[in-house]
Amino acid sequence: MTVLVTGAAGFIGMTVSLALMARGETVVGIDNVNDYYDVRLKEARLARLMENEKFSFVRGDIVDAEALAHAAKGVDRIVHLAAQAGVRYSLENPGAYIQANIVGHMNVIERARAMGDDLKHLVYASSSSVYGGNTKLPFSVDDQVDTPISLYAATKKADELMSYSYSSTYGIPQTGLRFFTVYGPWGRPDMSLYIFTSKILAGDPIPVFNHGKMQRDFTYVDDIVAGVLAALDNPPPRGGDTVPHRVYNLGNNNSEPLMRFIGLIEEALGVKAEIDFQPMQTGDVPATYADIEASQRDLGFEPRVTIDVGIPRFVEWYRTFHA
Ligand SMILES: NC(=O)c1ccc[n+]([C@@H]2O[C@H](COP(=O)([O-])OP(=O)(O)OC[C@H]3O[C@@H](n4cnc5c(N)ncnc54)[C@H](O)[C@@H]3O)[C@@H](O)[C@H]2O)c1
Repeated sequence: MTVLVTGAAGFIGMTVSLALMARGETVVGIDNVNDYYDVRLKEARLARLMENEKFSFVRGDIVDAEALAHAAKGVDRIVHLAAQAGVRYSLENPGAYIQANIVGHMNVIERARAMGDDLKHLVYASSSSVYGGNTKLPFSVDDQVDTPISLYAATKKADELMSYSYSSTYGIPQTGLRFFTVYGPWGRPDMSLYIFTSKILAGDPIPVFNHGKMQRDFTYVDDIVAGVLAALDNPPPRGGDTVPHRVYNLGNNNSEPLMRFIGLIEEALGVKAEIDFQPMQTGDVPATYADIEASQRDLGFEPRVTIDVGIPRFVEWYRTFHA
């Protein structure tokens, strides 16, 4: 198969691309390599991908339909991961979310429509943030998700709705994956594990919101990648009785207290953190927890890496990368 990976210079995009090539697939990446976070990290990820002769790259924006059409030539599957990520930044720069996540997503599904039967499956990233202020845990794909508490969450929910409408109207096989706090080597500098690690090493206090009373379903990147590949291999059938669109949770099915997470970072670094407790931030939720029954049943998804194993792996990568 030949797979277009949007957001290939990103954290999950690079890791998915490497896994696809490791099993023999050809990958075309597209990414605009924007400066939302340190571009050197994105370029280093790209340099890793470029070492593989099965990889080719289009430096372009998914908001530009022509660049996208050029990248999609000859591909039969799409893994759409390019987005403006991050909950907090959506307060600062809402327009970036509308461009990348709404206009960009629209262009991707339009491209999928234009590809007709040549496109076997479009898998795209949604987010656990669509569960918004839901208090029933764990979060199930059967729960209502009509109350997003950030613009980021609203754009991800909008993506699911736009995709559903295109599957319904044009029969395009699509799967949306709601990722739960993904972490691991080559991770994002705007996420807690990266921020905590760099601040602890610099001797700076770490901001801990909601006075530490937070829980997250942290999911190791290799588990997410296994779920993305399993989804890609299981397209909803075209031309059946039901709309060929599905949504799954990809999480660890284990909601961890934030203070235990911090304790493991301290242990891996061999340094005690100075903690700056702060109130809850706008747009943030106190707890996430994934019900993965449907992804286990339909995709054989089985997360394997606990934070006890995953955090030391991240810290080891961080030390090498920043050496
Ligand atoms: N990491 C997580 O915990 C998490 C959780 C839930 C959902 N997600 C979703 O998973 C996907 C991948 O996330 P990630 O953590 O790898 O983020 P990332 O920011 O590392 O990767 C996204 C990539 O997309 C690129 N991009 C952004 N806008 C673009 C545009 N208009 N055109 C072309 N490229 C563009 C960026 O340059 C970046 O390299 C995103 O859709 C994100 O919303 C991630």
